[in-house]
Amino acid sequence: MNSDSPYSPGGFPADFLWGTATAAYQIEGVGEPGGRGTCIWDTFSRTGGVLNHDNGDVACDHFHRLDEDLDLLQRLGVSAYRFSLSWSRIQPDGEGELNVSGLDFYRRVVAGLHERDIIPLATLYHWDLPQALEDRGGWSSREVAERYADYVDLVAAPLVAEGVDKWITINEPWCVSWLGYGAGIHAPGHHDVGRAVAANHHVLLAHGLGVDVLRAAGAPEVGITLNLSVFTPATDDPADVAAAARARGNLNGLFLDPVLRGSYPADMVEHYAGRSPGFDVVQSGDLEIISRPLDFLGVNYYSANVICDPARIGEVRALGYNAGPPSTNPFDVDLAAVAVGAPTDQTTLMGWPVQPVGLTDLLVSLRDEYTDLPILITENGAAYADYVDPSGKVHDVERVAYIDQHLVAVRDAIAKGVNVKGYFLWSLLDNFEWALGYSRRFGIVWVDYPTGNRVPKDSYERYREVIASKGALL
Ligand code: FCB
Repeated sequence: MNSDSPYSPGGFPADFLWGTATAAYQIEGVGEPGGRGTCIWDTFSRTGGVLNHDNGDVACDHFHRLDEDLDLLQRLGVSAYRFSLSWSRIQPDGEGELNVSGLDFYRRVVAGLHERDIIPLATLYHWDLPQALEDRGGWSSREVAERYADYVDLVAAPLVAEGVDKWITINEPWCVSWLGYGAGIHAPGHHDVGRAVAANHHVLLAHGLGVDVLRAAGAPEVGITLNLSVFTPATDDPADVAAAARARGNLNGLFLDPVLRGSYPADMVEHYAGRSPGFDVVQSGDLEIISRPLDFLGVNYYSANVICDPARIGEVRALGYNAGPPSTNPFDVDLAAVAVGAPTDQTTLMGWPVQPVGLTDLLVSLRDEYTDLPILITENGAAYADYVDPSGKVHDVERVAYIDQHLVAVRDAIAKGVNVKGYFLWSLLDNFEWALGYSRRFGIVWVDYPTGNRVPKDSYERYREVIASKGALL
């Protein structure tokens, strides 16, 4: 490879962003007493929605350990870091005056990153809706999209001035709407398909309004982060093929189509017709706002999906698939589609099959079917049953393999001409894994929750070496 090559010897673009990702509620803790208002995850964890009644009051106490955590990033050698802003730290009730000390915390984050030559990538919404807005209908109400735009307006200009060039409007709108309002697995815990469709639309509307506000504030690069996957029917049976198409339409189509094509997929509109309020909430002009041009697409990828029709679950099990009951599956919410894993798959502690090739396939299909936009892998990672051994080390060999394999999958996509510009490993720290509380560790740094002590795992050292080699070690 000659010295003018835009690729490093590792096969990644020379300006590839090597990073890690975190989210406010999962790591920060409240910090100062009254430092943030109540959000839907505070409520959900106090009303039985979270395993062991865990909550984010302290989490990793990142608020107080900011410098230590930024030093961990620096030693890791990342070129970029993805973090999120807590809306209720900026506006405790989701509207009105700016809480100056809340914004100051993020100024410190950004300044600390710049001191260490790390590029900030700020996510404006990673699921912690102020409870006061949920009390007025949450994401199934249009008003929340407007309040979101006001909130973005408070933080965008000051943080652009502070040197935040890269922005993500919303993290995983599918989880916000379908896990939060449809399956009831995530806060605020509603089981209502009609409201989930409405939330789907309003969270995307918030995204579009946010893009406009960010542009007006001079934000140089704006994108959205979608959680996407590949879907394969368990068999050639037309019922399984149709079920896989429904699941794909729900997870991928309901987000990619409006954001990148300016329309909802016809099959999904038909599927949810009759659900109230459902698509009735769509107003003229909304899709134009939702499909504003972007600078990059953020993709979160964890696993691939093999899908069957629930009526065929017995037959599919007999083929060796480990299909659980439909009720444990998010795609069963009015979709009649069950994710069945795959007979020979390794799975993570989340039960998610390890399918690195799915990431390559997804990236190629995004380029072929949807967009030439630069893509950032804004999350990818795995939970395993880690433990600190007697010598004080965490030998997380499975996570090391998972990360290596997925980076190779990214490189394969790049070799196929997909414009992938960065990879943000989920996650820097073990943290509050939503409805599963502290029971699932995704970090490359172990967090001892009672003391807050951090212990870099083997995966941290491995990722450090991979980054230092710019991928040549893979
Ligand atoms: C994603 C979330 C992130 C984390 C990982 C494991 O869906 O965006 O906050 O919980 O899953």
